[in-house]
Amino acid sequence: MKRLMIAATAGWMAACAFAEMTLVPAPQACSVQAGSFELATNEISAAVVAFTRDAAVPKEGYRLTVAADGIRVAHSDEAGAFYALKTLEQLAEPKGKGLVVPCVSISDAPAFAWRGVHFDDCRHFFGKQTLKRVLDLMAAHKMNVLHWHLTEDQGWRLDVPGYPDLVKYGAVRPASPAHGAMMRRLPNGERDMALDGLQYGPFYYTEADVKEIVAYAAARHIMVVPEIELPGHVYAALAAYPQFACRPENLAHRHPRLIWGIEKDVLCLGNDAALKFMDDVLDYVCRLFPAPYVHIGGDECPSERWKDCPKCRARMAAEGLTSEKDLQPWVTRRYVKYLEARGKRVIGWDEYLNGDVPKSAVGMSWRTAGGNGAGHKLVSGAEGAMKGHDMIMTPHDQTYFYYGQGLPDDPFQYGGSGRPYGGGKLTLEKTYAFDPLKGVPSEAQAHILGGQCCNWSEYTWNEYDLAWKMWPRGCAMAETLWLGAKKPGYADFYARMTRYRQRLLAAGVTCAPMPPAPQTP
Ligand code: ACM
Ligand code: ZN
Repeated sequence: MKRLMIAATAGWMAACAFAEMTLVPAPQACSVQAGSFELATNEISAAVVAFTRDAAVPKEGYRLTVAADGIRVAHSDEAGAFYALKTLEQLAEPKGKGLVVPCVSISDAPAFAWRGVHFDDCRHFFGKQTLKRVLDLMAAHKMNVLHWHLTEDQGWRLDVPGYPDLVKYGAVRPASPAHGAMMRRLPNGERDMALDGLQYGPFYYTEADVKEIVAYAAARHIMVVPEIELPGHVYAALAAYPQFACRPENLAHRHPRLIWGIEKDVLCLGNDAALKFMDDVLDYVCRLFPAPYVHIGGDECPSERWKDCPKCRARMAAEGLTSEKDLQPWVTRRYVKYLEARGKRVIGWDEYLNGDVPKSAVGMSWRTAGGNGAGHKLVSGAEGAMKGHDMIMTPHDQTYFYYGQGLPDDPFQYGGSGRPYGGGKLTLEKTYAFDPLKGVPSEAQAHILGGQCCNWSEYTWNEYDLAWKMWPRGCAMAETLWLGAKKPGYADFYARMTRYRQRLLAAGVTCAPMPPAPQTP
């Protein structure tokens, strides 16, 4: 017991070097020397650094030396050079008309290749300017994947050539849940299902918009992975083309789903025209997005419409499928092949790995024991990885930022238990405790590409709400994915974050307050 205490104290002392500074994420290895280097300019740019290429520096990594005579960076790729500049931006303090940087030696590289932020532009729409600010903040924290959730039951946000009705009908809602409704309980204990009666949209991105965002992200070493949901979560597309549903009459109103939650009307997998539509959308997406991945959703897809649809039953007979539940793995196999022929790997939420699905399909692990997913068996990160799938970890109870933070001054409090959040409570400390490798046997850990936070937007109306939910929890996520097992611990992070948060506020980021301080050892 005594020895353990000493070890813990020594670890804490070693980490104190980070605590003296404001680096978030903390670097893998850092030593601070006496003295500083002064810059006449008030901006960190490549011009203030002497760069050298060194093939021995790991991918995305860098070695940074700030000495009294100048700033030197060794790197093996462009991302490494970029991240060295991001570290310098955090180290630099204003001095007169210029900047001063403490003398340090930093050796740094990420623990995980996939350091993602998921962004739901469908339940609420944020637009290019907000997206650019999100990308700037991701880059500041060395996050490198934007998972762009572009299609949903409640809104279709991508203009696709040849399918003009997608945005005509799918990108505008005649009403939405009233502000804060659905999670709020009425005095009689029922869920408040009030609608606001306000037209929302049309909101969508054109081809030029997407190209602008993809280029903006690429300049910050961020890959944009589009998500086109299938075969469920397609109600907004069905509003545009009701003939692609098993029951077109259910879409006669021609508008997206108005409330949140799981929708039973999904893509009719017996209808060749519905599949041709999805082929065309994905073909366009493959041309528009340079990333080697396309996310096809696959979550929360009830199969009950397929069960009594003549077209779907004919498909099952033709394909030798014994249950309507087999239609989802059938369509997954179809699109794994279709997208591989276009040079893309498919990603989907964990339940799409149920059934006979090729190993090349990447899983996104969001559910933990007890999760729902419309009755589909949970496929955990460990299970997917043991079966040979690459996996991205985003366990809802540690990474879903639309969950409450437990802060006394969370905004938009309503009476009773009403809160402008979905789900449960996700404190900063719980986010920081996220470990993408937890429970994954060592022989399968190479299949864990990394992790991401998910910014579902049912209860996020605007950039103010978004920033409140994303930061500082996003900083905890960035540190976890950058440092992995070398994370210095929540107390160290908390001390740095408390200082660093002032910078975020000064930059106009409406991040949430810090929760109460942890008990120091
Ligand atoms: C999900 O949260 N439905 C992936
Ligand atoms: Zn059908």
